[in-house]
Amino acid sequence: MNIIVTGGAGFIGSNLVDRLIEEGHKVIVIDNLITGKKENVNREAKFYKMDICDEKIRDIFKNEKINVVYHNAAQIDVQKSINNPVFDGDVNILGTINILEACKDANVKKIIYSSTAAVYGEPEYLGIDENHPINPISFYGISKYTPEQYIKTYSKLYGIDYTIFRYANAYGIRQDPKGEGGVVAIFLDKLFKGESPIIFGDGTATRDFIYIDDIVEANIKALDKGSKEIFNIGTGKATSIKVLFYIMKKIMDIDIEVEYGKERDGDIKHSFFKIVKAKEKLGWSPKYNLEEGLSKTIKYYEKLLTKESKNEVAASRIIDREP
Ligand SMILES: NC(=O)c1ccc[n+]([C@@H]2O[C@H](COP(=O)([O-])OP(=O)(O)OC[C@H]3O[C@@H](n4cnc5c(N)ncnc54)[C@H](O)[C@@H]3O)[C@@H](O)[C@H]2O)c1
Repeated sequence: MNIIVTGGAGFIGSNLVDRLIEEGHKVIVIDNLITGKKENVNREAKFYKMDICDEKIRDIFKNEKINVVYHNAAQIDVQKSINNPVFDGDVNILGTINILEACKDANVKKIIYSSTAAVYGEPEYLGIDENHPINPISFYGISKYTPEQYIKTYSKLYGIDYTIFRYANAYGIRQDPKGEGGVVAIFLDKLFKGESPIIFGDGTATRDFIYIDDIVEANIKALDKGSKEIFNIGTGKATSIKVLFYIMKKIMDIDIEVEYGKERDGDIKHSFFKIVKAKEKLGWSPKYNLEEGLSKTIKYYEKLLTKESKNEVAASRIIDREP
């Protein structure tokens, strides 16, 4: 199939692109590289450095004869959404409308949209299922939920099929520790530098950590399943931040202690998903438990660092030899 992945230079998008190419699809990436990196983009994908709000996107959709669009590009920083709601709304809401207009004009069959647990806000019950009330507590939650409504309405008006995924806390390779990078990426960044990560609060807050390959697998299933449905994608299990740190420390076999900071306003105390619907209707369930997912992620970075330090040594040797 001819597939566009918006945000294909970012964490989730780039991992998805790799898998789609493996599966033999023709993949086109649209990304403005605001947080994504060009080196994340698979060499076999066609790359357009472009903003999703740019109307020229519509020509790409038509010229490339696109069948399916994975829409991942977004402003993902919760704090930024509160400091700059206009920018957040522009990218996440207007950007998605632009993508939907392009889908309509190019007769795209299906859009698969990456939404978030943030649409639910403070949980009224656990595990959170897809019928849980929508009550976002940040502008990011609103700007990720509003496109869901646009997608449903475009579907009703123009017959575009869709699947909407609401992810729990994703982690894995290529997640950026900067900005709202997710606690796993932030902790790993600190630990690899030999520094202490900071836990805000007492570490008993819990989250549902889902490994990137499981997210990618759900997205692949949506190519021919999950028509006009919304799915929560998580593990269905809660892990405290303290336990997360302990598992990382054990896998890395290091002796660094964590520091505790003041609990942050607006942080949700406990959150985990119920994933029965995705199991039943998509035939999807997570393959990796937290230890396995973290081990894979940590091994990847250890290898990368060894390679980088070898390159640095090689480079310093070359410099040494220069006259
Ligand atoms: N990472 C998570 O835990 C998580 C959880 C829930 C939902 N999501 C959703 O998944 C999607 C991907 O998130 P991610 O973690 O990979 O983030 P990411 O920042 O790594 O990827 C987003 C990509 O979109 C690109 N982008 C941003 N604004 C753009 C614009 N205006 N035009 C074109 N490209 C633009 C960025 O350069 C980046 O490559 C997002 O829609 C996010 O809301 C992520």
